[in-house]
Amino acid sequence: MRVSAFDERVNIHKPPEGKPESNFAEDVRTGLTAAPKMLPPQYFYDEIGSDLFEQICATPEYYPTRVEHGLLEDVVDEVVDLSGPEVIVELGSGSSKKTELLLRAVLSAQPSLRYVPIDVSEKALADAGERLLQRFPSLTIDALLADYEGGLKHERVREQQASKLFVFLGGTIGNFDHDEAVGLISTVRRQMGDDDRFLLGADRVKDHATLHRAYNDKRGITAQFNLNVLRVINRELDAVFDLQTFEHHAFYDPELSRIEMHLISKLAQEVPIRTLDLTVEFDRQESILTEISRKFTEQGLVQLIEEADMVIERHYEPENRYFSLIFARPA
Ligand code: AVI
Repeated sequence: MRVSAFDERVNIHKPPEGKPESNFAEDVRTGLTAAPKMLPPQYFYDEIGSDLFEQICATPEYYPTRVEHGLLEDVVDEVVDLSGPEVIVELGSGSSKKTELLLRAVLSAQPSLRYVPIDVSEKALADAGERLLQRFPSLTIDALLADYEGGLKHERVREQQASKLFVFLGGTIGNFDHDEAVGLISTVRRQMGDDDRFLLGADRVKDHATLHRAYNDKRGITAQFNLNVLRVINRELDAVFDLQTFEHHAFYDPELSRIEMHLISKLAQEVPIRTLDLTVEFDRQESILTEISRKFTEQGLVQLIEEADMVIERHYEPENRYFSLIFARPA
């Protein structure tokens, strides 16, 4: 475990050198040799992908970020009151913009706080860390460069005796299928003591046109974000995907209550991925499923939380019920 500190109040804990952080190569091989083809969504987020995602959040069509932010502003004082955290552990912290609301509310009620963001982007952790330390002089940060499961099991999370608030915002839970989502929340649950709490952001089922627009913005930023995963494979695995020959396709499936995002090959083609010693064949119009984004009913959220052995203490939603913040505790 290497640790780098750019201020004595912040440490970035990195995995040991040489140890692969994820099974990127094997995931790509498995996904692109499967029928139908698929790729796991976590690989969108290299530097370009993370930047495109920030741009998506600012488009007029992508409502979840704004709605969740507004809702959190309204309820943050109560959440802090009910949880009184000495440590905040955040899964997939990214730019930590919404979390700033929480940090501010906690630090106006108590003198100090430890923040443990978990993210796969070192740049996101470093940029957010620097900004937050400037804003909050009494904050200390233990950033974990890790995936969710790796971060949650990290000694810096396990060894904390203080009362903790675990936070998973942005609706990212919707990018997991039901079993994976229950598995992840159960991992959070296993790290929780009786007094710890969990705050989850989840997108809701709503009219189909609003959902469709959110993943098909007029400026085509979501399309660029989707195509970026091919650029990542080209760079990391010496592949030769021609991005011009694939197109973005996203739609809402009401039966599965989820957005599906695909890349469609515009022509029949063969794509070499040299590092894998693999050539992937595509038929014309063949698709790669690159992401699911599930939308929840109130009942679906209750079921998810209960299957992970927690109970909902508060369920916050705006008047239009576009998004939920679930505040839960161990059952
Ligand atoms: C990160 N996650 C919650 C986003 C979503 O809405 O599922 C990712 C995204 N994909 C396309 N637009 C945004």
